[in-house]
Amino acid sequence: MTAAAPHGAAFPVERYRADFPVLARRVHDQPLVYLDNAATAQKPRQVMETLDDYYRDYNSNIHRGVHTLSEQATAAYEAARKKIQTFINAASHQEIIFVRGTTEAINLVAQSYGRNRLGAGDEIIVSEMEHHSNIVPWQLLCEQTGATLQVIPINDAGELDMDAYKNLLGDNTRIVAIGHISNALGSVNPVTEITALAHAVGAVVLLDGAQAAPHTSLDVAALDCDFYAFSGHKLFGPTGIGVLYGKQALLEAMPPYHGGGDMIKMVTFKKTLYNDLPYKFEAGTPYIAGVIGLGAAVDYVSAIGMDQIQAYEDELLRYATTAAVGVPGLTLIGTAAHKAGILSFVLDGIHPHDLGTILDHDGIAIRAGHHCAMPVMERYRVPATARASFAFYNTREEVDKLIAGIDKAKDIFN
Ligand code: ALA
Repeated sequence: MTAAAPHGAAFPVERYRADFPVLARRVHDQPLVYLDNAATAQKPRQVMETLDDYYRDYNSNIHRGVHTLSEQATAAYEAARKKIQTFINAASHQEIIFVRGTTEAINLVAQSYGRNRLGAGDEIIVSEMEHHSNIVPWQLLCEQTGATLQVIPINDAGELDMDAYKNLLGDNTRIVAIGHISNALGSVNPVTEITALAHAVGAVVLLDGAQAAPHTSLDVAALDCDFYAFSGHKLFGPTGIGVLYGKQALLEAMPPYHGGGDMIKMVTFKKTLYNDLPYKFEAGTPYIAGVIGLGAAVDYVSAIGMDQIQAYEDELLRYATTAAVGVPGLTLIGTAAHKAGILSFVLDGIHPHDLGTILDHDGIAIRAGHHCAMPVMERYRVPATARASFAFYNTREEVDKLIAGIDKAKDIFN
């Protein structure tokens, strides 16, 4: 395991970079500059070795076998659950449900919490900056129950209009579902205040933490949210694994989302008794390697320190923002006072997709498009943005290359 830097020392980014094999590769004969971390983050060798060890040494199913391999796999799987519990400061390991990712977590809550509880006249509040995965599951729930969706608008900087939110809240509000950090804008939302206001009217709160988990330390107890969702692959872990945190009393009262093996205590054709938490929500053979790998990813970032990661990235974002605003013809989309890790922008006369292709020729990977947040594009009246998204292994030199690449694209187009 990579040791953390001593307190007060400079962030040893080169030492951390050495843990990520892909960062050493070349693309189009140029060193890779990977600035698409909001889409998925790269994996350190510690995570890959953990997956490899599982498949080489003790691959077997969990919670079922009496043999040694199954006991080892079960122990590693449940140890990973405890690591996640500590990582987000949940009260109990029973509040940690393994799912495929943020999307499945939100769908689970919409269906298992919402479907039997909501009806005509009830309201669900989301915001204008949500990712589609925090919009569409609620629209499906509205279609099923007759509830309606209310949307908190954002200002030009990409900040939530908190007065509008307060006006939307009322006796009919049943669920508030908000992104902790916007994937399209980088805005960090005031989620503690949002949660307290929702609780004051008796609504439950789900926070979409897909973009927050890799960038900031999480404390679900302090946030007091009812549900928190995040994905492993953005947190330097495997794809296809994610976490739903839920307050135990709420999870206890919710019916299973999927039926199958492992989520039951007893099955007859007359009646099935469901298993205890968290297994009630983990039907079928789970992604065992993914869970254990996610545990290794959490170990990895915890050893560095999430506060150190956040401080380093904040400084890198400031550097990148200063450089970007100095580029004539570049308009930042998302200038919230409180931002994390994301630089979304448009360039006069160059479509983001063209910019993305030109940058790729120089080995620079960004994302171009609507970022699964079409309402954000509509809000800013742009078809798409170019988005550079940072992780703790990115450097100022890489930001300089991005800016040089943008200048080159402008030369080509002008
Ligand atoms: N939600 C991911 C992104 O923002 C895929 O790119």
